[in-house]
Amino acid sequence: MFPMIPLISSYLSIAIIALAAVILSSSYSTIAPAHQLQDIKMSFSAFRLQLSSLLRHSSPKVLTSTSRKAFFSTSPSLSQSKPAMAEKLSFLDAVRNRRTYYALNKDAPVSDTRIQEILKEAVLNVPSSFNSQSARLLVLLGKDHDEFWDIVLEALEGVTPADKFESTKGRIAGFKGAYGSILFYEDPEPVNKLVSQFALYADKFPVWSEHTSAMHQFALWTGLEAEGFGANLQHYNPIVDAKVADRWNVPLEWSLKAQLVFGGKTGPPAVAEKAQTDLSKRLFVHGAKE
Ligand SMILES: Cc1cc2nc3c(=O)[nH]c(=O)nc-3n(C[C@H](O)[C@H](O)[C@H](O)COP(=O)(O)O)c2cc1C
Repeated sequence: MFPMIPLISSYLSIAIIALAAVILSSSYSTIAPAHQLQDIKMSFSAFRLQLSSLLRHSSPKVLTSTSRKAFFSTSPSLSQSKPAMAEKLSFLDAVRNRRTYYALNKDAPVSDTRIQEILKEAVLNVPSSFNSQSARLLVLLGKDHDEFWDIVLEALEGVTPADKFESTKGRIAGFKGAYGSILFYEDPEPVNKLVSQFALYADKFPVWSEHTSAMHQFALWTGLEAEGFGANLQHYNPIVDAKVADRWNVPLEWSLKAQLVFGGKTGPPAVAEKAQTDLSKRLFVHGAKE
């Protein structure tokens, strides 16, 4: 009972101040200059926000400005802030914005801490078949990113025709000039466990493991784009697998599926206007209401 008294008095004081703000704002509307009126309206909104948050017994919601940094809002599991995707950048906006960018540099629009937050969100929340959680991510930033692309170039030197190697070198230098790389692996252990547990789907689990990896790739490609990075997807596996496993302590049985290169954008997408096959050949909807 007694602990309620401070709460009730807080309600009352906020309600009185809010009422005063309403009266003040309505009377000022006839005499105050526009910018003062704006200030009054803003403080009234702040009161309303405080009042409603007090009534909900929760801390006031932080008002965020419209921002592109929203596809992976930090979940309550990683911080106390609420997911706020709808307030900032819609999922479909993020999906539409994601493109292939090769023109990348080492300027990062967000901190490494934020990059790691996004990575954690993806690993925790992207689905996997039977919740196998078979995806493993090796993320290389700074010197490690550069070293990875040196390893790729070295591996390519052995297999690229001499007359093609100059252009290959240029391409790899482009990737090395970006900010970071995410290497997407699948761990066969949880996948094989499912194969032995569910004989009916035995032949499907390896396929679904590929799908699981693809979902992680798409989520991070789109998520990093939403933070202001540009990115492109590469496949230098399996020629680099052994060297990478040795250098970064990756279990040899993990299977490398793809590499996402990301960095600051220095130019437009690789293809400005993507050619689109007619939607009528790709999308079929039946039973939709008018
Ligand atoms: C499964 C998959 C594999 C891809 N492999 C490569 C690749 O090895 N190298 C590359 O430069 N781009 C690769 N891409 C990028 C596609 O070429 C690109 O996404 C596509 O042309 C559409 O262009 P957009 O990304 O700008 O929308 C791949 C994309 C997907 C979905």
